[in-house]
Amino acid sequence: MKFFIDTANIDEIREANELGVISGVTTNPSLIAKEGRDFIEVVKEIAGIVDGPISAEVISEDHEGMIQEARKLAKIHKNIVIKIPMTAEGLKAVKVLSKEGIKTNVTLIFSANQALLAARAGATYVSPFVGRLDDISTDGMKLIQDIVDIFNNYDIDTEIIVASIRHPMHVLMAAKLGAHIATVPYKVIMQMIKHPLTDAGIEKFEEDWKKANLKI
Ligand code: E4P
Repeated sequence: MKFFIDTANIDEIREANELGVISGVTTNPSLIAKEGRDFIEVVKEIAGIVDGPISAEVISEDHEGMIQEARKLAKIHKNIVIKIPMTAEGLKAVKVLSKEGIKTNVTLIFSANQALLAARAGATYVSPFVGRLDDISTDGMKLIQDIVDIFNNYDIDTEIIVASIRHPMHVLMAAKLGAHIATVPYKVIMQMIKHPLTDAGIEKFEEDWKKANLKI
């Protein structure tokens, strides 16, 4: 499973990119708004840091508006992927954009049927939101299992980006289920790195080394 980072914060993206584990970035209108900066400038800056798919989301709700915005965003950099909400208008936009060779990420997926439709419309990626389903007492990971099974049944090459990840267990489950990608907030990447036994081990090695008065 590959990792994308789910943020529009440049410091977090730089830091995570240095770890060598990030293959792409996902943003959404809320994440962009949090940064309080010009949308296009932020997307350009991200594309200059991470050499991989960068999802930027359209705001229009009608397919013509989505297509116009998508074409503009796609011109920013070859790695831009257009995030389109899962609506009937969104599917129409995906159909047109995929024919133009513009990559799409259909977002706000909450059912396997939605994922299947998005794939058939030509989506490069689908983004099922596990955390928001868990929030309403529904099993978000069951959705990932269903989408993985259905895409395997029909050899669908649309990639599954597990989104709305809230903690490391979501990442572990996504990997066990065979999802292609997990888009992970910076905080969760940091949580995944940490283990108390690693910290305790480093402390003990340091203590023993000092006692023996050795040098490298
Ligand atoms: C990424 O594609 C999604 O926009 C993001 O993961 C949503 O996460 P949230 O449910 O924590 O806002």
